[in-house]
Amino acid sequence: MNDNLHTLRCFGCGARIAGTEARPDFRCAQCGDLFEVEYAGWGQRQGKDRPNPGALKWLWRERRCSGEALDQSGVWRFRELLPILDNFGNAVSLHEGNTPLYKLKRAAKSLGIDELYAKHQGMNPTGSFKDTGMTAALSVARERGFKWVACASTGNTSAAMAAYAARAGLRSLVLIPEGKIAWGKLSQAMDYGAVTCQLKTDFDGCVRVLTQIVHEAPIYLLNSVNPYRLEGQKTPAMEIAEAFDWMVPDHLIVPGGNLANSSALGKGFRELRELGLVARVPKISVIQAEGANPLVRAFLQSNGDEMHPVEAQTRATAIRIGNPASWRKAARIVRDTGGWCLDVSEAEIAMAKAEIGAEGLGCEPASAVTLAGLKKLHAQGKVAPNESVVLILTGHTLKDADYTIDFHRGTLLTDEESTGFEEAIAGLKRDAAVVDATPGAVLATLKGMVE
Ligand code: F0G
Repeated sequence: MNDNLHTLRCFGCGARIAGTEARPDFRCAQCGDLFEVEYAGWGQRQGKDRPNPGALKWLWRERRCSGEALDQSGVWRFRELLPILDNFGNAVSLHEGNTPLYKLKRAAKSLGIDELYAKHQGMNPTGSFKDTGMTAALSVARERGFKWVACASTGNTSAAMAAYAARAGLRSLVLIPEGKIAWGKLSQAMDYGAVTCQLKTDFDGCVRVLTQIVHEAPIYLLNSVNPYRLEGQKTPAMEIAEAFDWMVPDHLIVPGGNLANSSALGKGFRELRELGLVARVPKISVIQAEGANPLVRAFLQSNGDEMHPVEAQTRATAIRIGNPASWRKAARIVRDTGGWCLDVSEAEIAMAKAEIGAEGLGCEPASAVTLAGLKKLHAQGKVAPNESVVLILTGHTLKDADYTIDFHRGTLLTDEESTGFEEAIAGLKRDAAVVDATPGAVLATLKGMVE
């Protein structure tokens, strides 16, 4: 299973091409759809060629104690399931993955759910889940001899790409929508040495410009239309299954932006099942912000068969995307696994984020849609109290400190957005008081709190 035996299969028309035959924009020459990495015949292999589930589980766990750089990566630890390189020595790693799975005790109690966990992908080297995809796709870029890589981004992809490019000694070009990404993310791209262009457009406009650029210059595209990104991003499925002792959770709840991550995680679980490593796949639900909800609309209008792009608007800037590239893949995962797709308001996102913060974890606003979505699914009776739920927290809380401070100071939400939630918001807000530099003044702020 270690040989590079993958092909690319078009998600739309089923055409198969070799990895090296992909066009610069990773769109199918026949129908324009996206590709998926396929490992022919895994399920059909017989005899000694058939992977041994027990041996793989043992090997992957053993690698956690290994001193080898590749083994210490939570992506390449599972390299038997992503044979995308001719030579694993070309892998560019920052020891990504192996992220914590935390119990969310307070949220579980208030919802009356027995088992609620957060898989915190914000605990990756650059603070988001993008690192797992970037180690995979950027390694392919290096192996194929590219000198330049590029992405359009709402901030996290660009931070991850810039870091991995720097490690590999490649140059990187970042296109971001001017004034519409969190400063923490912009600062990362600059610090890691990317050529960073703020374009006077939105994310979808940046994608359009970059698609033209990669046709004109030898620059490797690292947006999630690149199918190798999804190979890395599928590995949290392996980590989650391993943490559940290869008994998967009932529900997985994922934020939806460009819609690659939900697709990647679904692919991961599907492959684990095909290989006999797990018996079933969790229900995968995708949650979007109300103002950036094209997949939700697609489900309401056509059961996920047609996409009508929207003008995206949300303070969860990471998922401010109106024309998601991977919508077809995500729609299929939601349908095939029996999950749901729904949206949540700005106030619901802000409150959920504060609740995750109050558990001592924190996350960025886009990640908090998962808890907000779970509350809705639970209220609709779609998640039973005895079912296990994993929320995918995609980004670190420090990515967007302005959002957090604005919420706690009471300047984030408009009165209209807060209507009906005033009491709940007041219970979550923690302002930072300015007090005199005396013990008396500090103790006065604790009055009634310390017993
Ligand atoms: N959460 C965070 C923190 C993100 O940065 C993103 C996407 C998502 C969720 C949505 O994931 O696109 O796979 O559905 N950020 C991209 C970027 C678009 O450029 O950083 P998705």
